[in-house]
Amino acid sequence: MEFIEHADHEMLALALAGRIVSDLRRALVRRERAVLAVAGGSTPGPVFDLLGGFDLDWSRVDILPTDERWVPSEDPRANARLIRGRLMTDQAARARFVSLTTDAPTPEEGYPAVAEAVTPLLPLDVVLLGMGKDGHVASIFPEGDHLAAALDPAAPPVLPMNAPAAPEPRITLTLPVLRGAFSLHLMITGAEKRTVIERARGADPASLPVAALLDGAVVHWAE
Ligand code: 6PG
Repeated sequence: MEFIEHADHEMLALALAGRIVSDLRRALVRRERAVLAVAGGSTPGPVFDLLGGFDLDWSRVDILPTDERWVPSEDPRANARLIRGRLMTDQAARARFVSLTTDAPTPEEGYPAVAEAVTPLLPLDVVLLGMGKDGHVASIFPEGDHLAAALDPAAPPVLPMNAPAAPEPRITLTLPVLRGAFSLHLMITGAEKRTVIERARGADPASLPVAALLDGAVVHWAE
């Protein structure tokens, strides 16, 4: 794990947006299209706001959420709406959005079709994750009903997830997909989340899922 302490939230957002863009540029040298997966939540918003201002051939970039609420894509809680509204603006409006939902009534019914759409995009080039104070990443929650399956190295690329901490059913990229990314960035702020990262080193991922990702991750933190 690499831990980078930034002077403040603004410096964190600037440095991380620059790093994501250079990761994507490197990926576009290797292959025709690059894939970026980003978390929802409140923390990465300032990075989203900056990305579209960077010069990059965004028309060759696929963007997908690391996890999604099983709600219509225009729902205020949908990560699709957040990503389209805040990240895919300016130059990044030319990127292609890949949805993690379908018209199926539940993620249990819809996830095989999503898995089929996600598989050809793997391995992911760049992942930007946030983290909950309970150590969840994407929608891999400590008390999730498919927690063990999502942490399994042989897991399918996406799985449904229901958890007491999540008000609506979710779908999430699974551990092997997140760990398989060429670049894995974890963005956190505040003293409490830093403590969670310290506790997670060597912890059981069944109680702190972030523990399963730390060795390959770059953690970006500011107070
Ligand atoms: C989501 C996420 C989730 C998020 C954490 C942290 O869409 O909810 O992908 O894993 O990153 O819950 O959320 P905050 O950044 O709001 O603390």
